Amino acid sequence: MIILGIETSCDETASAICRDGEILSSFTWVQSIHERFGGVVPEMASREHEKCLSSTVKHVLKEAEITCNELDGIAVTRGPGLMGALLTGVNFARGFSQGLGIRCLGINHLEAHIFANFIACPELEYPFLCLLVSGGHTQICQVKGIGKYSLLGETRDDAVGEAFDKGARLLGLAFPGGPAIETAALKGNENAVSFPQAFRKSNEIEFSFSGLKTALRYYLEKIERNGTKVLLSDIAASYQRSIVEILANKLQMAVMKSGIKTIVLAGGVAANNRLRMEVQEVLSDCKLFFPESKYCTDNGAMVAFLGEIYMKKNSLTSDHFTTAPNLSLKN
Ligand code: KG4
Ligand code: ZN
Repeated sequence: MIILGIETSCDETASAICRDGEILSSFTWVQSIHERFGGVVPEMASREHEKCLSSTVKHVLKEAEITCNELDGIAVTRGPGLMGALLTGVNFARGFSQGLGIRCLGINHLEAHIFANFIACPELEYPFLCLLVSGGHTQICQVKGIGKYSLLGETRDDAVGEAFDKGARLLGLAFPGGPAIETAALKGNENAVSFPQAFRKSNEIEFSFSGLKTALRYYLEKIERNGTKVLLSDIAASYQRSIVEILANKLQMAVMKSGIKTIVLAGGVAANNRLRMEVQEVLSDCKLFFPESKYCTDNGAMVAFLGEIYMKKNSLTSDHFTTAPNLSLKN
């Protein structure tokens, strides 16, 4: 089976071709237009998708040496994400599939992030725990099988990717903030500044990152007022440490509560090497799976891959889906 996957939920215009579980080609156009605003401008994201989507699709077809007529179906992200951005992808996929007379399936972006782990690790076995960390989500869920997810805990406010992006902005670093902070932190002393870790003492699996961002702002104001010189790399490293430690700590709590010792990471923040190191250290007795970095941040491969699984199961009916900006793992 050959599936074209399309992903336009936020600021990446991405597509990929999957054949029988193998990714033949994958291309992600990262919209740099948002950099100067320090965050994604929804209207601009939709316009950029509109402009770039068809050339992205042509590119992956060519690279995979597949013609349109060989496609068995199209899988497209239906949510969660920005409404306008999602609509560009969904409308494109619907029109293209109708023209070709093939099926079009709407895919849950969060589920696709989780299943990206199977691309490199088909041996991954259920049940497992997933730390899903992206620009819009921070949650730990238990995965018992395809479509069988239970949420063990999540953030009460900002997502962890937002904490990276907003923190980077305060530090005058580039957007997206996660990779910028990770790079800036490389030579820093992560014990230089003590930033808060919300709910560290709580027995619940829950997160909060809005206080961390405020703590960073107050800290920067204080050192400016006092004329204290602190290396940017030290601040970035300390900020990152606070984030990765709380994530790994709550993941450890989820392992203890559930008794499940197979762990996967998913979502853009899962590309962070310091997070991977922390998880490896804290959960050294668990089986850990980390997707390749290119399959952590938004991509078309995860959509094509999951779409093929659903098409083979024949379990989602063609075209009968709506665009759903607030889609969760439950619906
Ligand atoms: O999954 P994703 O590409 O898009 C959403 O579904 O939100 O995640 C994007 C988020 C951004 O907040 C970005 O700063 C963060 O992932 N991110 C990282 C890294 N690469 C991307 N955060 C920390 N370290 C990274 N290396
Ligand atoms: Zn994502």
